[in-house]
Amino acid sequence: MMTNSAIGIACSNIALIKYWGNRDDALRLPVNPSISFNLQALFSRTEVVFDPMGQHDEVMIDEQQAAPSAAQRVSQHLDLIWRSAYFATASPRPVARVISTNNFPMGAGIASSASAFAALTMAACAALKLNKSEAELSALARQGSGSASRSVPGGFVAWQDAYAYSIAPPAHWDLVDVIGVVSTGHKKTGSTEGHALAPTSPLQMARVADTQRRFELCQKAVLARDFALLAEVMEQDALMMHGVMMTSQPSLMYLLPGSLAIMHAVRELRGQGVPVAFTIDAGPNIHCICEAAAAEQVITLLRGLNGVNDVLVSGVGGAAKAEA
Ligand code: PMV
Repeated sequence: MMTNSAIGIACSNIALIKYWGNRDDALRLPVNPSISFNLQALFSRTEVVFDPMGQHDEVMIDEQQAAPSAAQRVSQHLDLIWRSAYFATASPRPVARVISTNNFPMGAGIASSASAFAALTMAACAALKLNKSEAELSALARQGSGSASRSVPGGFVAWQDAYAYSIAPPAHWDLVDVIGVVSTGHKKTGSTEGHALAPTSPLQMARVADTQRRFELCQKAVLARDFALLAEVMEQDALMMHGVMMTSQPSLMYLLPGSLAIMHAVRELRGQGVPVAFTIDAGPNIHCICEAAAAEQVITLLRGLNGVNDVLVSGVGGAAKAEA
């Protein structure tokens, strides 16, 4: 048997309506629908080489051997993809070498697991020459990391249950994510544990009960390119998620003083008529979403704030892809 290899490339994505909590933790089926756009400038590139002569899986992330827990998660994902095609044959999966690089800091609220599992899924399916639809690829990526389901389709993306789908192409709306990096340290509680804690907050039930309303408003805002509506629903949604996080048991407090400084500054700038609003993932960094024409002003604002160590900028990105 010849060595089978392929490269997968996938963007990270930023959720405008957040996914927080699963209705099935093992399958990573979400408790609520979410909406995101892909981040064209922030991506993972993952090469998968299936080598029948190999002894055990080898996983390199950003030029270092992956920690055992990360390597195990990658191996489990490859097992899942193998089973999706060869379940009936009972033949064992060939050993794999996985070499993955991110062009942005991992584990600091810039969803590296989204781009990583989308790129891994694309590469592994291409290396095994599996002919999967976009929905099937998205559903596989989801089982590695929920938000990875949204990094498979291009542009503006909705995810309600098993798989994610595009609601508008990248060129539909020239939005920019200006990320104020407050800390690049690896977060203490990752999102897998975080999702499992969501039901321990008394606020989660109310957040979930109201999500369909926010989802529909956000979809309307995106389709109509209505920034004022997007700003209102997006900030409320992110703050509701952080309300749940902070009131979980144990409490998850991701925000730092620098995060709050950005949030206040963004609201002040919006008050002056600039189309900018914030959202926040499971980390301290603040994603300032703005119309492209306002990006320079937002970048200058963030660079001048205490506690902001770096500023990353990205437009809307396309679908994940695979190369032989
Ligand atoms: O895909 P996960 O398990 O890393 O979850 C991501 C959760 C948030 O980034 C906080 C929200 C979202 O919808 O992306």
